[in-house]
Amino acid sequence: MLAPPPLEETIDHQLTDGDLQQPPPPQSYLLHSINSTIAIRQLPSQGISFQLWPAAAALVALLDRQTQSTSLSCLTTTNSRRLRILELGSGTGLVGIAAAALLGASVTVTDLPHVLPNLQFNVNGNAGIVEPRGGEVRVAAVSWGDVQQMEGVGREFDVILGSDVVYHDHLYEPLLQTLKFFLTRGEREEREVVFVMAHLKRWKKESAFFKRANKFFDVEIIHRDSPSNGARVGVNFYKFVTRAALKLNSVLSK
Ligand SMILES: C[S@@+](CC[C@H](N)C(=O)[O-])C[C@H]1O[C@@H](n2cnc3c(N)ncnc32)[C@H](O)[C@@H]1O
Repeated sequence: MLAPPPLEETIDHQLTDGDLQQPPPPQSYLLHSINSTIAIRQLPSQGISFQLWPAAAALVALLDRQTQSTSLSCLTTTNSRRLRILELGSGTGLVGIAAAALLGASVTVTDLPHVLPNLQFNVNGNAGIVEPRGGEVRVAAVSWGDVQQMEGVGREFDVILGSDVVYHDHLYEPLLQTLKFFLTRGEREEREVVFVMAHLKRWKKESAFFKRANKFFDVEIIHRDSPSNGARVGVNFYKFVTRAALKLNSVLSK
């Protein structure tokens, strides 16, 4: 499994032309089920948003096996239209790009504004794998908790994805606000929006995120990866759906 540097030691910078002159070679991911390889450019010197995190690779591997897996049944469409997926905190974009290729889905990958040029670079570089399979990937700025940006991408999604998005505690609340925005729909909507999150536990303090999340969402572990490369824990996969009481409130306030 990939081992990026400790989060405390990494900071994000504004990208300059100089930074892009000699990036490391792209990382390749073989998607076994479609026999295709995705290439992802990382810029590790630029900080955490420009690196691939362990939960991203784990989520892609699970998606790649999803045809045999019932844990990701929320990622199958019940009608003829394409699945609409929103990814939060996409970083380099591996998860969203792979989901678009594997599921033939319409995916919007998002992150903080300064991360988008590298994200767009990776989306462009893999269009030849995604588009022939009926998928498409759009890039948009969604800074967690920024209502204007969230409204900018709209609420028309079936599934929200995230990998390794729970880390700094000051981001817990903005992330939960963002999830409430995208997951809460009226009672009359025929389909529930789900958040599928791949998460590698690092600190005890993360339990505060899950405690808060449980107030608004039904949170269920849908799959656990075994620890790899001598690690103490493996990646866990969670499914969040909005609690019924919240849905009712949103209907009553309309
Ligand atoms: C640990 S990285 C994980 C990146 C990617 N999902 C992966 O697994 O490789 C966390 C991501 O969340 C993004 N992020 C952090 N704070 C954010 C915020 N306030 N709004 C939107 N994205 C944010 C970062 O830019 C970064 O891309």
